[in-house]
Amino acid sequence: MTDPKIIDGKALSSQLMGEIASEVASLLDQGLPAPHLAAVLVGDDPASQSYVASKEKACKQAGLISSLYKLPGDISMTKLFEVIDFLNTDPEIDGFIVQMPLPPQLDPGKVIERINPSRDVDGFHPVNAGRMMQGIPGFVPATPLGIMTMLERYRIPTEGKHCVVLGRSNIVGTPVSLLMSRKATPGNATVTLCHSKTPDISDLSLRADILIAAIGQPGFVKAKMVKEGAVVIDVGIHRITDSAREKGYYITGDVDFGEVYPKCGMITPVPGGVGLMTIVSLLQNTLKAAQKTYQY
Ligand code: GUN
Repeated sequence: MTDPKIIDGKALSSQLMGEIASEVASLLDQGLPAPHLAAVLVGDDPASQSYVASKEKACKQAGLISSLYKLPGDISMTKLFEVIDFLNTDPEIDGFIVQMPLPPQLDPGKVIERINPSRDVDGFHPVNAGRMMQGIPGFVPATPLGIMTMLERYRIPTEGKHCVVLGRSNIVGTPVSLLMSRKATPGNATVTLCHSKTPDISDLSLRADILIAAIGQPGFVKAKMVKEGAVVIDVGIHRITDSAREKGYYITGDVDFGEVYPKCGMITPVPGGVGLMTIVSLLQNTLKAAQKTYQY
């Protein structure tokens, strides 16, 4: 039996993967090529390798083409720009991402600005960030897009609600706070954005109808910080070493699920929540790139 308090990222992402696969099939029926996502991976950071591998696996599952550009960790900005310039123009590629974080000799801001915004399926380029801020259609970063899709598909009311976002990163906190405040559905919420300099986070989080935790600290959100009946979206993904587990670790989020679950109205679990939605959203963006939805 399904638990009505759980916002099930696994079930929803699998439904959306089916929807993407049928759109890909319809492109193929029209004699068009399958959408092609390329990923640039610089160096050998294990977490980045694992994220990119998950993206490639999902592409395969939904019928998209994926290719990986593995570059040495000591690559120069000039050489990386050559690869980006190729991906910006190659007719076989629809969209691409440069996996973050990058080694210290590379300036992430300059790297992102080099990407052709019409192929920026991560939605990180200032053109896409600016379009999102102004409510103009464009590529929206995958995690915020996944959160909005969860709210939409679960028909969770957002209009007139108080949404508190914990964390102001460019990848999640800042864009999701913009999307939640936008004149749209989901959206139309009153948003409070909390960060490391917010003096009393509990005082604000306790007033949230919708609490989005993207703070990057395992188990940060405790029951005493959550209003009775609130909708809790947990963006954190942390691997905690635990020799008692078969794998030697377990995955947990920014929310202390055991404490918060009984008190909240609905919650996204970790694993099985927002993380799966992120990958699906990247595929949705790649499909839009292939369909030339946004050409700037
Ligand atoms: N690193 C962590 N999340 C992301 C993401 O969504 N895109 C890219 N390119 N790098 C990341």
